[in-house]
Amino acid sequence: MFENKIIKNLNNQLNLEYFTSKLYLEMSFWCDIKNLKNANIFFQNSSNDELKHMNKIFKFLCDINVLPIINSNISLNINFNSLLNVFKKAYINEKKITRNINYISNISLKYKNYKIFHFLKWYILKQIKEEKILKTIIDNLIFFNNNQKDILIFDNLFLSKYI
Ligand code: FEO
Repeated sequence: MFENKIIKNLNNQLNLEYFTSKLYLEMSFWCDIKNLKNANIFFQNSSNDELKHMNKIFKFLCDINVLPIINSNISLNINFNSLLNVFKKAYINEKKITRNINYISNISLKYKNYKIFHFLKWYILKQIKEEKILKTIIDNLIFFNNNQKDILIFDNLFLSKYI
């Protein structure tokens, strides 16, 4: 029974990774329309990474004989108004992922489900890196004015380091 609760949350995490992949793909389209070449590549790469994160959970659930359930009713809030706003939304989303991973890790430990806890360690460390990158980009982007010329310079000079 306890394992069912943990697995249900792990399946939710799988869907959050799926949602995140779609969100980052939308962000990459927005960047493309704004001619932000490197930001476009950054979010395309991020979208592909999120699919890998989803597939990793998918494979794990299958390995423990659980059928994963994909939520196909995903709706995105794609109301972006600036590159800073896009990165802030990505950062907020990653913080949510971290909270979920920590929650599942907690209940795994509480109910002594060490195989799931061990599986989640990779995600715990990955979240540190992903949050750090987004926070660094936001902290630097904040100093650029929100005009097209400055944002293009930021895209060319700064974001090239992260793709
Ligand atoms: Fe799958 Fe960005 O965490």
